[in-house]
Amino acid sequence: MDGRQRYLASALVEHIGIGVIILDSKLRIQYWNAFISQCSGKQLEQGINQALTSVFPEANTPHLDQMVTQARDHGQHAYTQWRDNPYLIKLPYKPAREPGVLMLQSTLLFPFRDMDEQLCFGLLLYDTTEFARTNKQLDAALEALSGKQIEQERLIKKLEKANAQLLQSEKLAAIGQLAAGVAHEINNPIGYVFSNLKTLAGYVQDLLRISDAVDGATSLDELRQLKRSLEYDYIRSDIEALITESEDGIDRVKKIITALKDFSHIEEDEFQFADLHRGLDTTLNVVNNELKYKADIVKEYGELPQVECIPSQINQVLMNLLVNAAHAIEQFGRITLRSQQEGDWIWLEVEDTGKGIEPHLLNRIYEPFFTTKPVGKGTGLGLSLSYNILQKHNGRIEVSSEPGQGTRFRIWLPIRQPEAGSSGNPSL
Ligand SMILES: Nc1ncnc2c1ncn2[C@@H]1O[C@H](COP(=O)(O)OP(=O)(O)OP(=O)(O)O)[C@@H](O)[C@H]1O
Ligand SMILES: [Mg+2]
Repeated sequence: MDGRQRYLASALVEHIGIGVIILDSKLRIQYWNAFISQCSGKQLEQGINQALTSVFPEANTPHLDQMVTQARDHGQHAYTQWRDNPYLIKLPYKPAREPGVLMLQSTLLFPFRDMDEQLCFGLLLYDTTEFARTNKQLDAALEALSGKQIEQERLIKKLEKANAQLLQSEKLAAIGQLAAGVAHEINNPIGYVFSNLKTLAGYVQDLLRISDAVDGATSLDELRQLKRSLEYDYIRSDIEALITESEDGIDRVKKIITALKDFSHIEEDEFQFADLHRGLDTTLNVVNNELKYKADIVKEYGELPQVECIPSQINQVLMNLLVNAAHAIEQFGRITLRSQQEGDWIWLEVEDTGKGIEPHLLNRIYEPFFTTKPVGKGTGLGLSLSYNILQKHNGRIEVSSEPGQGTRFRIWLPIRQPEAGSSGNPSL
């Protein structure tokens, strides 16, 4: 180094905003720069050749011992951070610092040799007060954020609970809808069976009159006369017709009730192996009232094994799909039901010739409350409920739709439920 370089180097050390102290091998002060003088209020002459810990007694800490051991015995750079040790020496006099605020420091101690090959130490003190302050603000912000996160988690839990309640009420709404349909279906046969019974009661009266007359009649002619006047032949033929018709009516009611029982499976809410075609047929029976004026039903069933599922829930999904299909058809159309097994999976399909779904709405239809139906008509919960049910079954639901042409929903179910813990979605 020439004289100019040496001058520049020492000028730099005097001007730099970092504390620089040089110690000899016994940790006696050999030099400190202007930064230390300014901040400590002590002049270098006062400290020269004095032990660091006698000029700055607060530095006498296990931290310093550790650093010295690392630098002296291992020849390494030893670094301490303000977080572990807020300061090494007290420097309250830094210009422009607020009174009473101590400078927080990170420090570096490193060994080097002087021109006589004697061991020395360089001790650098970095002012980290500002840094610590912004760090603290960051910590506070982080804490606030984590508070917000906890709040969010709480809200999510609340939403989940509300969702569960909604699903429950959707179930109730579905039952209400179903009950209305069933009432309509039963009303008709019950109506004519009731009126037939009334007619039959009249006929029985007449027949009793004839048989009562047997005891008091004086001649066979008199009896024949009574029979004729009561239109016996007509009664006879009509009784048969009335009884056949009433039997049909009662049969119809019986069928509806069996379908209802099958459909609801109220007593079983557990996974079991079930015949999905049967489920689909009973569901069709239940929603027949909504479908019959809207569409021809075409069944293209494949071969299906028994599938492990909660039948009442799968029936509910099918009911939602069927009712949606009927609603999508404006005049009169066709609803095609298909099924198929593919490996360990089966699928069921409900295809309609209705108005279809606009492409930009396709990814919204499973959202709770998403509906394009007029207020009071749709709750927008049918598909979201179906989606949840399929998730619970480790299955899924797919849709493809062509506006103006129709829509096809396909539900996929694993034939067997995967063991708890392993996931089983098909990779398609
Ligand atoms: N087969 C379909 N054809 C055309 N659009 C459909 C069909 N199925 C569903 N959609 C659309 O998806 C929306 C959401 O359906 P979802 O079953 O969830 O609710 P919704 O039928 O409107 O009301 P809810 O079923 O609760 O009475 C419907 O409003 C409709 O716009
Ligand atoms: Mg619906």
